[in-house]
Amino acid sequence: MAAPSTSGPRQAALAVQMESAGAPAAQAEPDFPLRSRDLSYLRAVIDRRLGLLVPPGSAHPGVLHAAMRHILLSPGKRLRPLLAMAAAMQLDCSEHAALDFGCALEMIHAASLIVDDLPCMDDAAVRRAQPTTHVQYGEDVAVLASIALLSRAFGVAATAPCASERVRLDAVAVLSLSVGSLGLCGGQYDDLRPSPGRTLAATEDVNRRKTGVLFSAAVEIAGHVAGADAGQIAHLRALAAHVGRAYQILDDILDASSSAAALGKDVGKDAHKVTVIASLGAPRARKLLAEHLAGALAASKQLGPNKEGREPLRDFMDAAFGELMGAQAP
Ligand code: IPE
Ligand code: IPE
Ligand code: MG
Ligand code: MG
Ligand code: MG
Repeated sequence: MAAPSTSGPRQAALAVQMESAGAPAAQAEPDFPLRSRDLSYLRAVIDRRLGLLVPPGSAHPGVLHAAMRHILLSPGKRLRPLLAMAAAMQLDCSEHAALDFGCALEMIHAASLIVDDLPCMDDAAVRRAQPTTHVQYGEDVAVLASIALLSRAFGVAATAPCASERVRLDAVAVLSLSVGSLGLCGGQYDDLRPSPGRTLAATEDVNRRKTGVLFSAAVEIAGHVAGADAGQIAHLRALAAHVGRAYQILDDILDASSSAAALGKDVGKDAHKVTVIASLGAPRARKLLAEHLAGALAASKQLGPNKEGREPLRDFMDAAFGELMGAQAP
């Protein structure tokens, strides 16, 4: 996908043209609405890089590599790398400095999707509008592909270009915590085996661990990459905490109300689970979702726009939450 006509260099070129034509640049109207800058051009960058970071299907064992590529390169939203890159951009750092860390996050996410879809977990047949990895390649290959993607993710983070050794080391530590028993694995465990009478707060904490941790890791690592100060890191953490909780509530609402055709994945798989919807009912769950979006927006506002006057984190939220953002203040 080509970059849209909304980039900084194009704006700068426009200003130069206006000035040389005798018009003061300050009066030039931007030719796009600043608030709705589309980050989707970054998806092509991410996809190209992901394709280079895992072995091709032609490398032995070809079926294993094909299974890794099947899930990794299938049409997901790439939200975690987009968040890492948007956070870097909001802190006036090049999005490219966060690219490989974002790819590592996407690999971990893809690995978690393989596992989540297994018959012993959510038992799903369709993911990203194609057969789940175990349906396409068998459970044995799917488990190996998940482990191989996880392993590759740590290697990618450890060798990311444009980052100091310190930043890479911190990133590996953040990813390790995110995947392990205190993160994704622990959250997935509690999702599958809820303790009796679980409270809403405990369910929100499950959502933090099974889903929020990768959003939190994205901003944490981007903050390190961009050399953020303690105040900025605190705002980034607050934003990601709200985004993660909001995103799982939205996902659960869609699981109960949307269709497999619209989502490209099985629906109704979590109907029996202890979700926020099950605890609160859909209307109050939607209210809680809106509160989390407001909290995330407030944290983004605290960070302020970047030197180009843009708010890439707001753009990320538009990409992740779509029309729900319309109900939020501009
Ligand atoms: C799905 O995540 C799993 C959840 C954590 C809710 P996404 O909705 O980001 O899935 P993809 O990456 O777009 O397929
Ligand atoms: C996602 O939870 C958590 C993961 C770690 C994948 P879900 O089970 O609700 O995700 P989907 O709906 O299958 O994508
Ligand atoms: Mg699940
Ligand atoms: Mg699932
Ligand atoms: Mg779901």
